[in-house]
Amino acid sequence: MAIQKENIHGQWGSSLIFVLAAAGAAVGLGNIWKFPFMAGENGGAAFVLVYLVCIFVVGLPLLLAEILLGRRGQASPINAMTNVATESKASKKWSIIGWLGALAGFLVTSYYVVIAGWAARYTFRSLENEWSGVDAATIAGEFSLFRGDGNALLIWGSLFLIVTMFFVARGVKSGLEAVVRYIMPVLIVILLGLLAYAFSTGYIGEAASFMFKFEPSKLTNEVLLSAVGHAFFTLSLGMGAIMAYGAYMPRNASIAKAAVGIVFVDTLVAILAGLVIFSVVFAHGLNPGSGTGLLFETLPVAFGAIPGGWIIASIFFLFVTFAALTSSVSLVEPFVAYLVEKGLTRIKAAIAVGVVCWLLSIGSALSYNVWSDVHFWKGTFIDNMFYITDNILLPLGGILIGIFVGWCMKDTKIRREMKPANEFLYLVWRIAVRWVAPIAVIYVMAKGFGLIDYIVGMFA
Ligand code: TRP
Repeated sequence: MAIQKENIHGQWGSSLIFVLAAAGAAVGLGNIWKFPFMAGENGGAAFVLVYLVCIFVVGLPLLLAEILLGRRGQASPINAMTNVATESKASKKWSIIGWLGALAGFLVTSYYVVIAGWAARYTFRSLENEWSGVDAATIAGEFSLFRGDGNALLIWGSLFLIVTMFFVARGVKSGLEAVVRYIMPVLIVILLGLLAYAFSTGYIGEAASFMFKFEPSKLTNEVLLSAVGHAFFTLSLGMGAIMAYGAYMPRNASIAKAAVGIVFVDTLVAILAGLVIFSVVFAHGLNPGSGTGLLFETLPVAFGAIPGGWIIASIFFLFVTFAALTSSVSLVEPFVAYLVEKGLTRIKAAIAVGVVCWLLSIGSALSYNVWSDVHFWKGTFIDNMFYITDNILLPLGGILIGIFVGWCMKDTKIRREMKPANEFLYLVWRIAVRWVAPIAVIYVMAKGFGLIDYIVGMFA
């Protein structure tokens, strides 16, 4: 059986739009907010280099596999997996990839909108020229005041969620496509502008050596697991977002080229953002390991020190907000599309998904204030969300995608969809998806959970 019918949700206008949309899903808070602070907390280069290896060895092959599944399946991840599994005479239970992804989507959205809300709030603060001449300690103080205000976090998070659902409700063409078309190119231009500023601080060398000077002693099991987890997170991998987007990709567009383009843009933005932020950190004697506040406590210091810096600051935070928007739509699209396939209108589906996300987001918003003392397992509610999604659900989704495409999907079907231009590269990819990616991710997860050390200990 071949899956001929086209999906009911529509298609991207061109293959370039697909790359922009998928790069838009990939580039977000993960690159601009999370990557720099994770690098800062985990010893800089130790984290960055492992992350880069993960991106190319695990991320790129699985990204290709996930796009392939979407375009072959021509439906939301849950149904796309059922379709491709049926086609290859595999168990329909593979739709579990879609279900796990839906769960991951809800959990990521629950905190994503809260952090995106910070960026939105900071856009307005910048417009009011709040940073001018203010020292680092004051800015940090204001940030903790803001974070301590549960209502403020809830309001800004809710606003961001409403905007997200608004665009998702409008559908692929007039919603998602409209968002990415203009935002992505401008984002890159802004980052280049900020890079010029980073050069002018004279500390970019220090930033680069912090990010790239490798000290093996800093490489712990936890760092390894978080680097793998982040590679998944930053590429929007392992939860079906890319699969859903792949279903809207024109049938004649090259999957391999698109995947390379997405990885290139995503990695470039993360590295540039890191260089900018650490230049500022070192130029002002700040602490690179200050955690989740890094973006909101350090950059304003720099903006405050430049004449007219409020203009750059406003543009910068506006685009962080927009980058987050092109990502958040991809988090909810898979399940909205599934509900539409079940017969709901897009608007009703968006409202249903939005309400669940909103309820979950309360936990994340209150993690920094009212519930900041409620600690369980990995910390506060939001700490647990970070851990469950990055370190468990996304890698697990990746392993399953690798196993399905590597072992269960028929080679003829893969070839028909991929139309490999180069037999050697195709083989390299097959080996990566079949062996390297699943084994590497299983190993790192086992190590991160202490399993490997436990087993080694049993024999020692
Ligand atoms: N990749 C996005 C970022 O870096 C976040 C994101 C969007 C995501 N869609 C996703 C993460 C799907 C995991 C899965 O900000």
